[in-house]
Formats: sequence, C-alpha cells, structure tokens
Amino acid sequence: MLVDAFGREVTDIRISVTKRCNFSCVYCHDEGLGPVARPTAPHADEMTPPEIERIVRIAREFGIRSVKYTGGEPLVRPDMETIIDHTVRHITDVSMTTNGTALESRAESLRAAGLKRVNVSVDSLDPKAFRDIRHGALAPVLAGIQAALRVGLKPVKLNMVVFKQTIDHIDEMIRFVGHGEGLKLQLIQFMPELAGQREWMVDIDEVKRDLARKADRVLVRDMHHRRIYGFNGAEVEVVDPVYNREFCFNCHRIRVTHDGKLKGCLNRDDDLVPAKSLDDDGLRAAFRKVVAQRVPYYGVHVKDYPSRTAPRESAPPSAATPRSSR
Ligand code: 5AD
Ligand code: SF4
Repeated sequence: MLVDAFGREVTDIRISVTKRCNFSCVYCHDEGLGPVARPTAPHADEMTPPEIERIVRIAREFGIRSVKYTGGEPLVRPDMETIIDHTVRHITDVSMTTNGTALESRAESLRAAGLKRVNVSVDSLDPKAFRDIRHGALAPVLAGIQAALRVGLKPVKLNMVVFKQTIDHIDEMIRFVGHGEGLKLQLIQFMPELAGQREWMVDIDEVKRDLARKADRVLVRDMHHRRIYGFNGAEVEVVDPVYNREFCFNCHRIRVTHDGKLKGCLNRDDDLVPAKSLDDDGLRAAFRKVVAQRVPYYGVHVKDYPSRTAPRESAPPSAATPRSSR
C-alpha cells in the first residue's frame, strides 16, 4: 500500500484514456490539462491498451483496489472493451465516467468485458438547457442510461454539475432518479480551479440545507462524512470538494493523464510524473514518486481560501455504505 506524507492511503486510480470528446461542456475541467480535443483521429500520445494494462498491473502490486476510466470521453476510443478486458485481469473493480452518448450501442459489450458501473453526466433533463450546457443532444444520453440499466451496469450514477445554470433543475433530477430502479444522483459542486468562471459557483452549503429539509432521511457516510439524502427510495449525494479541507485530507486517489503521466491531484498540473516507456521498476519508482509528492490541495497547497459554512442539520447516527466517487 502506498501512503503519502499526510497518511493518505492510495486505494483508487483514475485513468484518462483520451483528451478527445464529442461534447464540449461549458464547465469542463478536462482533468486539468487544457481544452478537450474534438473526436477526430486519436492523438499520437494516447496510451495503448498494453501501456494501460501495465499501469494497472503495477497499481495492483501496490494494493490499489479500484480503477475508474475517464477522458475526455473514454468511449471515443473503439478499444475501450479491450482495455477493460485487460484491466480486470488485475483489478476487478472497474468503472467509467462517460457522457453516455455511446452507451446505447456499447453497454452490453462493455459489461461483457468486465465493466462494473458507470457514471453518466446529465446536468438537466430539458433538451434545450442540456444543449446549452453540453453542446450536444440529450436523447442519446437517456437511451444510453436505459441501456446501462438493462445490462446491469448498476448503480448508474448520474453526475450533475451544480452551478448557476443547473441550480433550478435539481428537483427535476431528483424526481427522475426516484423513478428509475438502479439510478443514483451525484450533485457535483462546480469546480472553478481549472475551469475558471468562479462567478458560476452557487452556495453548495445552501443546496445541502435545502436537501436536508426536503429529504425523508439523511445518512452520513464514513468517507468525507458525506451525506446521502433519501427521497422516496432515490439516493442523492453531494460531492463538494471546493474550499473543502476535509475532502482533500480524505483523498485516496491518484490519476493518470491520457498521455501516460501520473498525477497526484486533479487541481494541479505541476506534479506530473512521466510513466510511459519505463520498465516495470521505473514505473514502480514513478508511483512512489507521485505519492511522495502528494499534498492535500485545500489546507496545504492552498492555505488561503473562503471558509465554508457547515450545513446545520440533524443527521441520524453514521451509517457506513460502500465507497464511491465521481
Ligand atoms: N466542476 C465539477 N465537475 C466537473 N466535471 C467536469 N468539469 C467539472 C467542473 N468544472 C465532471 C462532470 C463529469 C466528470 C468527468 O467531471 O460531471 O461527469
Ligand atoms: Fe468535458 Fe466530459 Fe463534457 Fe466531454 S462530456 S466536454 S470530457 S465534461
């Protein structure tokens, strides 16, 4: 197990397989590496399936338990099934964050390759608002979600970025997940660190207070003391990393960029450790190096930031549930 200087064990790895995407969401942070590219030809620096498999194999040696694939949009790659098939030889807990547009045709083959769960980004159920935010169409995404549910990629977590343009759509999204067996909603605080547009932020603590008032139950998870709000059987979770010291001090994830560099923190690009074209020992050293350099972003790397008001709500005693993440 790799542990950093702040006692944070590294248990998850998030691997970006491409910088390309067929959407261009107004909020996209592109994993902190500059604007996403259109889904034309693969860029030459994308990792090959054997390169990805080697990273996963070494991650497994270090006790990493789960892999999440991301992009850009991972499904612009026709070889995602191959990548997942090779991943589960080493780590079986494999999930993917996708914009959902290709899921209708590929959910089944992805599931057969060994994919366990998906997160699908849906910020609004209104086609016009969806298009304004994502620069793409809603209908294929909804069809993709149905396909994912059908083949059992459960739970299907819907990622909704909470910012000025979506704040009024939250109630509708909650109703939507309440109607679909196997759906969960993750309300993700808009992160301005890389995307800019700080003025798009909304008061996420107020959102949490509002959820607590309306929910029929509130559970508190061990991880980050995150709250889960229950609505008629639907689960809604808030992911609020911005200005959140506790979030950073509980971060157990390292990242890999589309071009094969290890990355210790989403919000930084000055901590990259090249991992391509290394032999196994070189790759092990790169893992140790990136973990040795890891520092909680809020609280240590950034010391000066607006304070957040803790939501005042009475929650029932802690009920631990399995870990999950975006
Ligand atoms: N703030 C919050 N979440 C973001 N995502 C992308 N950019 C941002 C941002 N600036 C989320 C999307 C997508 C996932 C890959 O990251 O919801 O689901
Ligand atoms: Fe960025 Fe994801 Fe939106 Fe594509 S779908 S533009 S990668 S947030």
